[in-house]
Amino acid sequence: MNEEIAISFQRSGIFLFLLPMADGLSLLLIAFQEEEPVPKLSVNIDHVATLRQARRGKHPDPIGAAVIAELAGADGIIVHLREDRRHIQDRDLELLRKVIKTKLNLEMANAEEIMQIALKVKPDLVTFVPERRAELTTEGGLDVLANRNSLRKNISRLKKAGIPSSLFIDPDSLQVKASKQVGAQFVEIHTGKYCDAPDEESRRKELQRIARAIQQARRIGLRVNVGHGLDYQNVCPLTDIPGIEEYSIGHSIISRAVLLGLERAVREMKSLIQS
Ligand code: PXP
Repeated sequence: MNEEIAISFQRSGIFLFLLPMADGLSLLLIAFQEEEPVPKLSVNIDHVATLRQARRGKHPDPIGAAVIAELAGADGIIVHLREDRRHIQDRDLELLRKVIKTKLNLEMANAEEIMQIALKVKPDLVTFVPERRAELTTEGGLDVLANRNSLRKNISRLKKAGIPSSLFIDPDSLQVKASKQVGAQFVEIHTGKYCDAPDEESRRKELQRIARAIQQARRIGLRVNVGHGLDYQNVCPLTDIPGIEEYSIGHSIISRAVLLGLERAVREMKSLIQS
C-alpha cells in the first residue's frame, strides 16, 4: 500500500475489564477493530441517454443499459436528472425505479422541482450536485457552506421520506465538516481534479487530499463514495485508500462499452444485409 495515502482511520480500541473470580480478580482484555467496507461499483448511465438524445429517439435505451450493468455485477445504477433534461428523462427515472434490482442513486440539483420528483420516485440515495446549464458535466463540488440552510431543509425532508442524502464535494475539510452539520449521511468526494492532474506531483497531492478528506469524513461518522473522471487507469491508486464505500463511474465504462461492443454490432449488421 502507498504509505503516503494509507492514512488509517479504522476505529479500533482496547477495553480492559476486571472480573471478580473465585481466586481473586481476573483481567479481561477485549480488542476490536471496525470492519473495512468492501468497495462497491455504481454505474452512471447518463451517457447512454446522451446518445439517445442526440436523435431524440428511442435508442439506446438507458433502461436496457441498467439491466445489463446489473447482470454484469454493478451494485447500483446512477442517473442525473438535470433541470434541462439534456440526457436522462423523467420517464427513465420512473422506469428505473421499477426495473432495477440493486440501488438507485439519483444525482440532482438542490432545486424544488427535482425535489418533488425525488420525493415521489423515492430513490435509494439522493446525491446533491451543483448544476450549471452551460457546463458540459458537473464541474466542481457543492458549496455546502454557502447553501447550508436549503440543504439542511431538503436533507431533512428526504430523511422523513426514508431517503438518505449524499453531498458531492471537493476534498476540502470545511466542506466535509459542513456536510455533517447539515445532516447528510454520505459525502461523495469529487475525484475530478485528481483525474485531470497534469503531472505526477500534482496527482500525488490530489490523492493525498482525497485520502485526508475520506479519513476526516469517516472519523465524524459520514459514509464515503467517490467519483468523477475515473477510468481504467486512474482508479487503481484510489483502491489503496481505505474507507471508500462506493465508486460512481460513468463515462469511462460507457466509452469502453462503445468500443468493445462495436465489432459485434458491425458483424451483426453485415450478416443481416447479406442474408
Ligand atoms: N459523480 C457525480 C456527482 C457526477 O456528476 C458524475 C458525472 O455525471 C459522476 C460521478 C461520474 O463521472 P464520470 O462520468 O466521469 O465517471
